[in-house]
Amino acid sequence: MNERDSDAVASMLVNRGYSMVKDEDDADIVLLNTCSVREQAEQKAIGKAGYLKRRKRKNQNFIIGVMGCMVQNRGEKLLDQLPDVDLLIGTQKFHHVPDYLDSLVADRKNETPTPSAIIDLGEEEGSQNTIVGHDYDIKKVTSFVSIMQGCNMSCSFCIVPKTRGEERARPIQSIVDEVKGLVEKGTREVTLLGQIVTSYGRREIAFKESKSPFVQLLEELSEIEDLKRIRFTSPHPRGFKDDLVQAYKRLPKLCQYVHLPVQSGSNDILKAMNRPYTRERYMQLIDELKEVVPNMHFSTDIIVGYPGETDEDFALTKKLFDYVKFDMAFIFKYSQREGTPAADIEDQIPKKIKEARNQELLAALTSYSNARNASLIGTTEEILVEGPAKKGEGMYVGRTKGYRKVVFPGNERLVGELINVKIGSSTVTSVSGTVV
Ligand code: 5AD
Repeated sequence: MNERDSDAVASMLVNRGYSMVKDEDDADIVLLNTCSVREQAEQKAIGKAGYLKRRKRKNQNFIIGVMGCMVQNRGEKLLDQLPDVDLLIGTQKFHHVPDYLDSLVADRKNETPTPSAIIDLGEEEGSQNTIVGHDYDIKKVTSFVSIMQGCNMSCSFCIVPKTRGEERARPIQSIVDEVKGLVEKGTREVTLLGQIVTSYGRREIAFKESKSPFVQLLEELSEIEDLKRIRFTSPHPRGFKDDLVQAYKRLPKLCQYVHLPVQSGSNDILKAMNRPYTRERYMQLIDELKEVVPNMHFSTDIIVGYPGETDEDFALTKKLFDYVKFDMAFIFKYSQREGTPAADIEDQIPKKIKEARNQELLAALTSYSNARNASLIGTTEEILVEGPAKKGEGMYVGRTKGYRKVVFPGNERLVGELINVKIGSSTVTSVSGTVV
């Protein structure tokens, strides 16, 4: 989501006449987009902003802006730590960046510039409709599309409801128009983005023939002819109802890959996290999805070391992990976020234990991913070609519908095409093959 927000800001700036440079050292303006999910992410951003300020010594007109969740989370206080920052932009204000930069740039041309920072952190009605431009990075085969902003859940560990505000959905038609525009420019696959996409339009859009607004959106997008594939992230296990499960039967463009954050495999911990489902329900949902799409691929988010997590709780997470055999997982060590309910729980888990649990899951993940990729050897997979591979002359890269990365000898004409590749070998992160 941050990547998409950053792209949208870059597009607005390019439209305003600014140009993007390849190398950060050549820039007159650097904007940092930030994340607050874990303490480490915030520390990284603060470190980077601190490093950038050295550029001001050489160039008085150099502009540093900080945007996004950390700014929303820490507010103006951030300036105490980072006095050299010129612009602080909250998560609902990205679309004002061009105006603010224009005024900062103009100010620097004055004989007596006003050195105070511009700060805009408020809520803004309709901000969900502003993350739409793609001009900066056109002709991408795969594109992100932001369908909503905010989050109304209250997971006890999570800072996002504070930093991203209340859930607000874009209208279906506006999303369809954006995707049509992208497809005209060469996009063949979209990934729909929202904190909890299964909550899409819950307040704004009525159910139709017992189909949720999100399923209605998927149906409409499926009608776009040259759009070949649709992905989305992230659904919530609670909102993943039968209409969405059944949609996989009807909508062949939906990819056979579901990112379904579970967070923990222990019912006690799920309850403490205020995640309204059980391990049994989660596994049932996995089974239902496998019934509809037998070789469905799954990935997840897991937090290890949530306050009070016992060895038994963790063993249950490991068991669920082994049950699903995820292709991919983001495994997080619990990070205390000030202002969230879990931060005040006394029974915080020592770092060493978090680290060990993290390593155990990572090792399991490597083995599932290895096995999954090895299982593709000898099969022919339909892949969407994305572009040249990072390594290897004449090598190209694409993905299967299950999101496995495929490397093969190819050429530029294949980019954006769906082609068949016979898989010959595999590693933990990708498979290789030849076009058939
Ligand atoms: N500590 C560790 N991980 C967290 N996440 C959210 N909050 C925290 C936290 N305080 C993880 C969750 C979520 C993902 C985006 O980040 O797993 O799904």
